[in-house]
Amino acid sequence: MHNDLHDWDRTHHWHAFTQMAEYEPLVIESADGVWLFDTEGRRLLDGAGSMWCNVHGHNHPAINTAIERQLHRVAHATSLGMSCDTTVQLAKRLVDVTPAGLDHVFFSSDGSSANEVALKAAFQYWLQCDDPQPQKTKYLTFGEAYHGDTIGAASVGGIGKFHDLFKPLLFEVVRTPSPDMRRLPSGVTGDDAAKFFLDEVEALLREQGNQLAAVVIEPLVQGAAGMVMQPPGFIRGLRKLADQYNVLLITDEVATGFGRTGTMFACEAEGITPDFLTLGKGLTGGYLPMAATLTSTRIWETFLGDAESGRALYHGHTYSGNPLAAAAALASLHLFSEEHTLETLPPKVERLSVRLAELAEHPHVANARQRGMVVALDLVADKQTGEPFPPEARVGQRVAQIALEHEVWLRPRPDMTYAFPPLAISLEEIDLLMDAMTAGVEAATS
Ligand SMILES: Cc1ncc(COP(=O)(O)O)c(C=O)c1O
Repeated sequence: MHNDLHDWDRTHHWHAFTQMAEYEPLVIESADGVWLFDTEGRRLLDGAGSMWCNVHGHNHPAINTAIERQLHRVAHATSLGMSCDTTVQLAKRLVDVTPAGLDHVFFSSDGSSANEVALKAAFQYWLQCDDPQPQKTKYLTFGEAYHGDTIGAASVGGIGKFHDLFKPLLFEVVRTPSPDMRRLPSGVTGDDAAKFFLDEVEALLREQGNQLAAVVIEPLVQGAAGMVMQPPGFIRGLRKLADQYNVLLITDEVATGFGRTGTMFACEAEGITPDFLTLGKGLTGGYLPMAATLTSTRIWETFLGDAESGRALYHGHTYSGNPLAAAAALASLHLFSEEHTLETLPPKVERLSVRLAELAEHPHVANARQRGMVVALDLVADKQTGEPFPPEARVGQRVAQIALEHEVWLRPRPDMTYAFPPLAISLEEIDLLMDAMTAGVEAATS
C-alpha cells in the first residue's frame, strides 16, 4: 500500500510549485503538535508551520472538537444573501482582534483570493467615492513581492521565476525595489534605512500617485521573496505617504498574520491600520482553507446603495465563510487567549535568536535575519564578497535534505534556508530545529 501511495503521489497528484520529474514522495499520514508522521514511519518536525499555516500545533483537541461540533450542526451555508451563526461570530471576533478601524470582513477561501478582493474593492472604491477618481487603475508594489498565484495577485507579485512566463496575461503595475536592508548603499546606516526606502517610494507617488488605486505590501517581512525584512518605521512611513498622496494601503498579512512576527498582526508593531488587511493561512490555525479581507467603514460605505445602484461588490467564492472553517478559526482565536500564545513567544524568539547568532558565524552564512518566529539566512560561497554558490550546487536543497535526516522538514530554497515553525513549538523543539538547520548548513557547504 505504501509503495502504491508513493507511485500514485508521483503520477496522479500534481504538486504545487514542484518539478514533478524530480519529486521524491513524502506522504504524511498523521500529525501531533509540531510533529508530522509519514507513511515510512518517520517523524518530522514541521519547520515551516505547514507553510505559515499551523499555529497551535497539529491535531489540537480544541480545534478538532470545534470542527466536529460544527459538523453536527451545519457544514456549509452560502454567503450569497445568507449567513451562518458561526461565521457571523467569526466576523465580529476578527473585527475585535485586528487593528482598530477595520470593521467589515469579506470571506474567501485562500490568500490569493483575499488579495483579489482587496485589489478589486480598492479599484471600485475610487469609482464610487464622493470624489470619484476613475483614472486610479494601477497598483504600487514592491520588488519580489508575493501575493498569490491568481492573475490579479500574480500581477502585483514580482518573483520572476513564478510570474514572468505569464506576463502577457498580467496587468501592468508600478514597481519599486523592495525595502531590503541588503541593498542599502554605503553611507546609509540602519537608522536611516526606512527614510532611504520611503524616499524611493515617495518619488514614485509624487509622479504617479494620481494613477494609483492602492499600494500593496507584505508588512515587515516579504516571505516568498526570501524573507526580506523591512527596517523599523517603514510601514508607519508608508501609511503616512499613502494618506498624503491619496492612495489606499493594502497590507497582505496572509503570511505574517496570527503571531508569526511576534505581535498578532505585523501592522500592530508599527501602530498602523491599513485600508485593507488580507488574512489567510493561520486564520484557521492551519486546519481548513479560509481567508478574509477586512476594510474600514469609510470604504465599505461607498459600496452601499439600492439593489439597482450597481454599487455592490460583485465578487464571491462558493465556500466563502464556510462554517467548518469559521469554527476552526474561532477555536484558534480562543486558544490565543486561553493558552496565552503571544505571551509565550518572547523566550522562543530569544532562543531562536541565540541559535541563529551561532549560525551567523559560519563561514558560508550571510545576512542571518529574524523577525519574531521567522528566521532566515543566505548561503554564500564567499562571505567577504557575498558571492553565491552556483545554482547547480543546490546548496539550499541539500540543507533541507540533510535536515530531513535529522527529523526536521525545512522548505527547500536554492540559495538560502529559513524556518517559521508553529508558534506552539517548545524550547527543546526549537533546539532540535536549529540543530538540524546547523547540521544541514555545515554538511551542504563543506
Ligand atoms: C504574503 C502572501 N500572500 C498571499 C499568499 C497566497 O495565499 P494562498 O496560497 O492561500 O492563495 C501567500 C502564500 O504563500 C503569501 O505568502
